[in-house]
Amino acid sequence: MNLKGTRITWLGHATVLVQTAKGTNILIDPFITGNPKYPNGFVLPEKIHYILATHGHGDHISDVVPVAAKHHSTVVAIYELAAYFAEKGVAHTVGMNLGGTVQLDDVSATMVEAKHSSAAQDESGAHDVGVAAGFVLTIADGPVLYHAGDTAVFGDMKLIRDLYRPEVAILPIGGHFTMGPKEAALAVSLLGAKTILPIHFGTFPPLTGTPEELAALVVTGVQVVRWAPGDSY
Ligand code: NI
Ligand code: MN
Repeated sequence: MNLKGTRITWLGHATVLVQTAKGTNILIDPFITGNPKYPNGFVLPEKIHYILATHGHGDHISDVVPVAAKHHSTVVAIYELAAYFAEKGVAHTVGMNLGGTVQLDDVSATMVEAKHSSAAQDESGAHDVGVAAGFVLTIADGPVLYHAGDTAVFGDMKLIRDLYRPEVAILPIGGHFTMGPKEAALAVSLLGAKTILPIHFGTFPPLTGTPEELAALVVTGVQVVRWAPGDSY
């Protein structure tokens, strides 16, 4: 798969850094402090233009506020979650909702469905921060990427295929809190993506799904990438 200069780096769990050929840096679901799989010594680029948050669970947003402050990022999330970040002191937020698209420099970011819960827990309790989502990133002169966030498989992944034609799908495969390899294999066929970057496995003991299990279940022609935290594709 030719990514035409786009670089995708896995920082463990669901944390993914996307760097476009034109130099836009997008960090999805920053979970750094407390992420047992964050690559040792990995230094984020000085400028992170955008942070995308798929839902309010701690293993996806725990570092949104500090990273946004340090790297002067605009944070993009579903409306209620964006408002929650603004309350926490994030200076630049973009609230959007399912089915909508925002232009982030050379990247069109579309918020799509996910089947998962979403609440943000902090010292004052649980907060309603909208529903869980995924993102399709259509990169100008580059590939179409889909980061599913946390989700079960669902039939309307077919709509994501029909509308956006994702070439690279970044999918949770660990099970327990998300789909596992069996469900992810069906997701792969619904999405039509030929390159699969597995995430959200192996971080904690219950997340037992493996790329090998997924690879055994997908059809010929689909590549399940074996990568370790810190690796780029
Ligand atoms: Ni979650
Ligand atoms: Mn999660």
